[in-house]
Amino acid sequence: MKLSPAELPEPSADGRAASERLSGVIAAEITARGGWISFARYMELALYEPGLGYYAGGAQKFGDHAAGGDFLTAPELTPLFARALARQVAQVLSASAPAVIEAGAGSGRLAADLLPALDALGCLPERYLILELSGALRARQQATLDERAPRYRDRIAWLDSLPDEFSGCLLGNEVLDAMPSHAVQWLADGGIEEVGVGLEAGRLVERSRPAQGALLRAAQGLGMAMDYRGEISLAVRAWVSDLSRRLSRGALLLIDYGLPRHELYHPQRNGGSLRCHYRHRVHQEPFWYPGLSDITSHVDFTAVAEAGFDAGLDVMGYSSQANFLLNCGIGELLGGAEVGAGELCMPGTPLRGTATANLRERGAVNVLLSPNEMGELFKVIALGRGLPGPLLGFLRGDKVHAL
Ligand SMILES: C[S@@+](CC[C@H](N)C(=O)[O-])C[C@H]1O[C@@H](n2cnc3c(N)ncnc32)[C@H](O)[C@@H]1O
Repeated sequence: MKLSPAELPEPSADGRAASERLSGVIAAEITARGGWISFARYMELALYEPGLGYYAGGAQKFGDHAAGGDFLTAPELTPLFARALARQVAQVLSASAPAVIEAGAGSGRLAADLLPALDALGCLPERYLILELSGALRARQQATLDERAPRYRDRIAWLDSLPDEFSGCLLGNEVLDAMPSHAVQWLADGGIEEVGVGLEAGRLVERSRPAQGALLRAAQGLGMAMDYRGEISLAVRAWVSDLSRRLSRGALLLIDYGLPRHELYHPQRNGGSLRCHYRHRVHQEPFWYPGLSDITSHVDFTAVAEAGFDAGLDVMGYSSQANFLLNCGIGELLGGAEVGAGELCMPGTPLRGTATANLRERGAVNVLLSPNEMGELFKVIALGRGLPGPLLGFLRGDKVHAL
């Protein structure tokens, strides 16, 4: 349910003060740049400004409402997500190299569950490298892995930048949607405007100007012939393209919410897909207390596929999260009672099946698979080089043709 700011819980005094400092930084940049910044730059500052941005500051972010979180991601919901994913990762590692790079590792929970799952499959990577933009999250990931995966700590390292080349599997769960996007207004007369951010009486406001350069070309490429508002993420295209060029052998496995282009830019989606998350509420006011809400937009999976393809990768699979996880055997993992009491909160604790724990697991897997929750909206794409197919996760229900 989308809410107006008046319906959102009032942030704490500390939260308001941090947001005020970030607003000052943003306002100073707008002024220094002649009164206008792109929405993508605004999003970058609101999410990643060191010490103040949503992902770079002290907010809890991941986790349930009681723990002060704003949203739950799949790895936070149940360790079965990592265990199912491990089967696909193992196939990629066996055919390429024993190395994993995880981009945007959040709380570190996926790494903590994936490493023992790969170990159990006899496919423990020699190196598990984490690429994380946020210094605050990097520290949180280190603490999570010290606590939950001490056996594997000597294999885990953090990257400051991408290696020139790598072989193995690169993973990213909900990373693409957290990258900055530009806001675009197509006009019925053929004009294309970029909606950016300016200041009015000290307040952040939308300001439009004619789109230019790479954004104009990308917007023209979508061929909209009506008044239409939406987002384009040049950052996603550039990131996937850069990674793809560096992949010698192996696969990029990217999981996120999004759609193929013809569905994302459908007339019925006029208005775009920008969403903000605060304390498990969804709102559409990105200027409400900058730095306190997550800001996301849906991923254009056709653009992701094109970026990989143009860099010489094969689009090896594209599917809903539900199909992918089912193909990877999440049903058997659930049915096999491999998850016991307390594991939702503490992976690695002794397995003692209780009715309550099993019910919680079933509920969590239902959220991952249900078409009304994450099952259909979330997609998985595999871009590979030098890998024999087919990939396990796409054996049934592959939709590459829909991209
Ligand atoms: C929505 S969170 C998802 C976290 C985690 N993967 C999960 O599923 O719980 C987005 C993550 O991506 C990171 N991120 C965003 N852009 C990134 C980039 N260009 N490189 C590396 N990490 C990035 C954020 O700092 C954050 O850790």
